[in-house]
Amino acid sequence: MKDLLRLRTSLTEEIEALLNEQIKIEAYSSAVYLAMSSWCNRNGYDNSASYLEKQSYEEREHMMKIFRFVNDMGGRAVSPEITNIPQEFESFRGVFELALQQEIHVSSKINNIADRCFKAKDYMTFQFIQWFLKEQIEEEYVARRILELFDVIGEEGTGRWQIDKNIPKVTYGEEAGEE
Ligand code: FEO
Repeated sequence: MKDLLRLRTSLTEEIEALLNEQIKIEAYSSAVYLAMSSWCNRNGYDNSASYLEKQSYEEREHMMKIFRFVNDMGGRAVSPEITNIPQEFESFRGVFELALQQEIHVSSKINNIADRCFKAKDYMTFQFIQWFLKEQIEEEYVARRILELFDVIGEEGTGRWQIDKNIPKVTYGEEAGEE
C-alpha cells in the first residue's frame, strides 16, 4: 500500500521528509518572531514590535508555500508541532542577533534541500526551492543591516529609540540606501 501511494507522487521520501522538516522550521521562525514582537512591545520598542509581527506573518506564508507544494505534488504535508519558543530575550540587540542567527540557519537548511534535490534529480522541487534561496538573500541582508544599526547609531542616550525608529526602514534591493 505504501508503495502504491508513493507511485502517486514524484517526491521521494527523502525530499518529502526534508520539505516537512522545512515546514516545521518556518513555523518555528514564525512563532519566534511573534515572541520577539511581544517582547519588543513589552519593552517599549513599538516599531520593532510591528516589524517583527510582519516578519512572523511572512514566515507563516513561507510555511504555507511549502505545505501547499507538498500536497500539490501528491505528498503528505504535516501540520507541524512547535515547542520551546523562547519568550524572554536578554536585550533589544539580543533579539536581532538571534534573528540573524535564525535566518542563517534557515539558509543552510534551504541550501541543503537544493543540494539534495539536485542529487536526486528532482528538478521540480529544485525549481520550487529557488524562490526560497532568493528570499534568504534578502532576509539575511536585512537582518545584518538591522544589527549594524546598533553599532552605527549606538545604544547610549536616545540611541535605542533611534534604532527602533529605523528598523522598519531597512529594505533590500532598489529601495535600499534611499534613506
Ligand atoms: Fe522563511 Fe526567514 O526564513
